[in-house]
Amino acid sequence: MRQEDVSQWVKDAQAAFSAATDLDSLKAARLAHAGDKAPISLASRGLGSLSPDEKASFGKIIGDAKAAIAQALATATEKLEAERDKKVLLEEVVDITLPVNRRHRGGLHPISIIKNEVSDFFIEHGYAVAEGPELESGWLNFDALNIPADHPARTMQDTFFVEPVESGMVLRTHTSPVQIRTMLTQTPPIYVICPGRTFRADELDATHSPVFHQVEGLVVDKGITMAHLKGTLDNFARHMFGPDVTTRLRPSFFPFTEPSAEVDIFFNNRWIEWGGCGMVNPKVLQSCGIDTDVYSGFAFGMGLERTLMVRHGITDMHDIVEGDLRFTRQFGVGL
Ligand code: PHE
Repeated sequence: MRQEDVSQWVKDAQAAFSAATDLDSLKAARLAHAGDKAPISLASRGLGSLSPDEKASFGKIIGDAKAAIAQALATATEKLEAERDKKVLLEEVVDITLPVNRRHRGGLHPISIIKNEVSDFFIEHGYAVAEGPELESGWLNFDALNIPADHPARTMQDTFFVEPVESGMVLRTHTSPVQIRTMLTQTPPIYVICPGRTFRADELDATHSPVFHQVEGLVVDKGITMAHLKGTLDNFARHMFGPDVTTRLRPSFFPFTEPSAEVDIFFNNRWIEWGGCGMVNPKVLQSCGIDTDVYSGFAFGMGLERTLMVRHGITDMHDIVEGDLRFTRQFGVGL
């Protein structure tokens, strides 16, 4: 073994590594010049058979040579890896500015979003969501709710009657018939929320729509008082309008609640009427077979359009009804 040979191996290795054009050819060069059968490796293994003096001098020569080869290999590897990465980046680049055949995923209407918001809030508080039909019997929409036959809500201006009129069917004018349906099929304790579509024979204008949405709440349990109603409405209002909102109950009248109240909210520096509420009229509880010596209940109902309009400062009902995407998109897709 001569020193010139070792130097030549190093030069060969350096030349082979720097000649490699990609990581595959570098691998072949590495096996040839630094692998188990490479001359330098064989020489390194042969050191053991040399005399101590030779071992010392050749050991250093071979050690230095191996280090030089390893260094050359590292340099070549780094260079070729960088080249590969650059190439990959170029080849796999995605031009996000290219126009594509975009399909809109669609989204929920703001009324649906707020409906889900209300339902989620009450579900978190242990309520169940109850539903009833939009085409409802006049008995459930009125009579069972203690709305007598001569009540103004029954007149042709308010109610959509359905032919044949003798069927007694109406498009429900509020979600309150779901209270009756629930109490007729369930026994207390009852905690339900009922969001749904409601209908009144109103012209579509800035604040009215013949088709609108309400959300009804009904609780029937032992020892339920107006304080529970107020606390529930306070929490509900804070959830919908933010932590600073306050509520106020104003005496009012509904045939199916006694006492009855309008619930107002103080929002954006003014009092705004939000919905109706009250303690379920014992007559209504009794007609649903509920023992009023044991149970009492509260109910409330508010318009979802109104809630949305107040919360977002929407001044024209047309925006909610028309379904213009430029309006809807502002509320997010809510999926
Ligand atoms: N149903 C009433 C309405 O449509 C609202 C209401 C619901 C009032 C429940 C009291 C209790 O105006």
